[in-house]
Amino acid sequence: MDIFIDSADIEDIKKAMEYGVCSGCTTNPSLIKKAIDKLKARGENINMEDYIKMICETLGEGRPISLEVISLDADSMIKEAETLYNKFNSIANNVVIKIPVNTATSEDGNHYEGLKAIKALSEKGIPINATLIFTPEQALLAAKARAKYVSPFAGRVDDFIRTNAGIKFEKPDYFSAEGRKEGGRILEDNGIVSGVDLVARIVDTFANYDLEAKIIAASMRNARQVREVAELGVDIATVPFYVIEQMLKHPKTFEGIVKFSKDVVPEYRNLFS
Ligand code: E4P
Repeated sequence: MDIFIDSADIEDIKKAMEYGVCSGCTTNPSLIKKAIDKLKARGENINMEDYIKMICETLGEGRPISLEVISLDADSMIKEAETLYNKFNSIANNVVIKIPVNTATSEDGNHYEGLKAIKALSEKGIPINATLIFTPEQALLAAKARAKYVSPFAGRVDDFIRTNAGIKFEKPDYFSAEGRKEGGRILEDNGIVSGVDLVARIVDTFANYDLEAKIIAASMRNARQVREVAELGVDIATVPFYVIEQMLKHPKTFEGIVKFSKDVVPEYRNLFS
């Protein structure tokens, strides 16, 4: 499983690259806002174009960086995708365009704009990451429209199930892959019992039909959830920096370091002087 960093914060991206664990990056307008707000709070002036160029360069060739469009109709999304691709892909040949699988904002909206844009851009050879996926059916349609990646939002499924059941939670709180029973019945969203369950169903569906799109487990909330999607054999997990840090930690590791450091005898230490 590849690990991407789910962030537009150049400092986090640089750190993840230095640690050697990161083989790509995903952004969205909210992540860009968070990164830019942080810089503005420090009084720094940002040139958006230079900032994104820096991210592309930091990742480098062979490590995809997903940049999202902002319009909701196919024609405008196609234009924006081409703008992003033309501006930034020449830096390190690593730009992927994020298109929502469906840009409707309610039942009454036009539900096909996302798929239309995915198909048109894929045919032009622009790699697409189909985003905001909450059902295996959406993933299947995005893959059939030739998206290169599909991004099921695992954490937001858990949020949705918990919120609908009136459960209080903090964003990084673990939610069991097997789901949760309340009042004798398992909580679910149309048969999906957790975010990890959503990813599992997509992994199984794609295996049934040898679909080529890679699956990116997105909206990861904690290390245990990353472990669970890795156990499914998902292609990629995109994780925020705090989750990468969490993946490294265990009290017995800390304790072991303290003990090993204390037990070093001078004879052994001298080897290094
Ligand atoms: C993925 O590509 C998205 O940027 C991201 O994972 C969304 O995560 P969130 O639900 O924590 O905002």
